[in-house]
Amino acid sequence: MASDTRRNPEAAVGSQSRERWLALGQMQFDYLIEHGLRPGHRMLDIGCGNLRGGWRFIDYLDPGNYYGIDISPGILIAAKKTLVERGLQDRLPHLTITGDLTLDFLPGDHLTSCTRTASSPARRWR
Ligand SMILES: C[S@@+](CC[C@H](N)C(=O)[O-])C[C@H]1O[C@@H](n2cnc3c(N)ncnc32)[C@H](O)[C@@H]1O
Repeated sequence: MASDTRRNPEAAVGSQSRERWLALGQMQFDYLIEHGLRPGHRMLDIGCGNLRGGWRFIDYLDPGNYYGIDISPGILIAAKKTLVERGLQDRLPHLTITGDLTLDFLPGDHLTSCTRTASSPARRWR
């Protein structure tokens, strides 16, 4: 994955060309806007890749409201390059490596639609 990502980050997330990468990102963005995403919402993008959709959400959401997590260090480096290419540093996205999906790096009251279970430190979606 790391060498694939270095060679071609668009292909590493499944797009064979820059045009397809842009088109799929636009589809993701349009879908969530049509389904009620608003700038004041906070978004957790699990498996954010190199921000194919993410850069548009970072631009749209209020600063600090986008959280992207991914298991691949290489793809997160590519994500930061996308951020710089798009000039979105001032939007203050959170890009974090994850080894699993326990979300234990977030404060307990951070997500309104999540809950921490008694049997596990992991939070489950309601
Ligand atoms: C097909 S790509 C899609 C990336 C992005 N959502 C997009 O649409 O461009 C899937 C991403 O999920 C990440 N991924 C795979 N398994 C994961 C896991 N267990 N936790 C977090 N990320 C994971 C991969 O590293 C990859 O960047």
